[in-house]
Amino acid sequence: MVQILDGKAMALQIKDEIANEVRALTAQGHRAPHLAAVIVGTDGASQTYVANKEKSSHEVGFTSSVYRMPESTTEAQLLETIEFLNNDPDIDGFIVQLPLPKHINEQKVINAISPDKDVDGFTPINIGRMVLGEECFVPATPMGICTLLKRYGIETAGKHCVVIGRSNIVGTPAANLLSRKGFDCTVTMCHSKTRNLAELTRQADILVVAIGKPEFVTADMVKEGATVIDVGIHRIPDESKKSGYRIIGDVKHSEVDAKCSWTTPVPGGVGPLTIVSLLQNTLQAYKRMSN
Ligand code: GUN
Repeated sequence: MVQILDGKAMALQIKDEIANEVRALTAQGHRAPHLAAVIVGTDGASQTYVANKEKSSHEVGFTSSVYRMPESTTEAQLLETIEFLNNDPDIDGFIVQLPLPKHINEQKVINAISPDKDVDGFTPINIGRMVLGEECFVPATPMGICTLLKRYGIETAGKHCVVIGRSNIVGTPAANLLSRKGFDCTVTMCHSKTRNLAELTRQADILVVAIGKPEFVTADMVKEGATVIDVGIHRIPDESKKSGYRIIGDVKHSEVDAKCSWTTPVPGGVGPLTIVSLLQNTLQAYKRMSN
């Protein structure tokens, strides 16, 4: 019988823990942690992410601010805003929502974020620290995956973990973290040039799917008893829904779940943990600032 890694319930529980901590801090006369977000343009998915981040920030008692900038914003203007946020002592951490408009160099913008406020863990300094196993901000989605595995007590030591996708935000950091001491997986990283993908994924005790293709992983690609982590989020038109769409992942759950020992639903799996990780990183940034 497949068991569900319930990210939604776990996110509620962790938010409760954070809210209690914030209440204790403010009761002692300290200010609340402050998370800011910068969003450039009107991309629908990005608007949803940022709205969710704002809502979750308020739920745990954080101060939240959003800097909305038009699509026509120049790179120089964005860098100026980042400089302002880097130097504002009232802001503990901030994120620059990706993707950015094509005329802006994304890496240049990320490089400008102060590593001490980089709660997304995207700057080269934080990625370097992560690879070295030093204290750092870990990117939110892989951190959420790690939290799910840890809190559900999924055995990882010596297990074969196959990661599909090598993005800077998910696949690459997930592969790194799961191979480290504490998780101790043997990790295989697959990507668009991988040969015999299904042969590899069928060997996975833990399969992390972050390829960005709707229902890409089918039952023939999964070993009986595997733990399957689905990082995908896709909106598919569905007239039977009030919203006109439904959300599906990178895994074809209708046929894969029957083979799994554990699986993450979409929605309600990794997604809610991603936002919680960002809140956890912000609280960490706040504590570092106060010490
Ligand atoms: N775009 C998609 N996911 C993310 C994320 O986790 N952080 C930022 N900044 N942008 C994103």
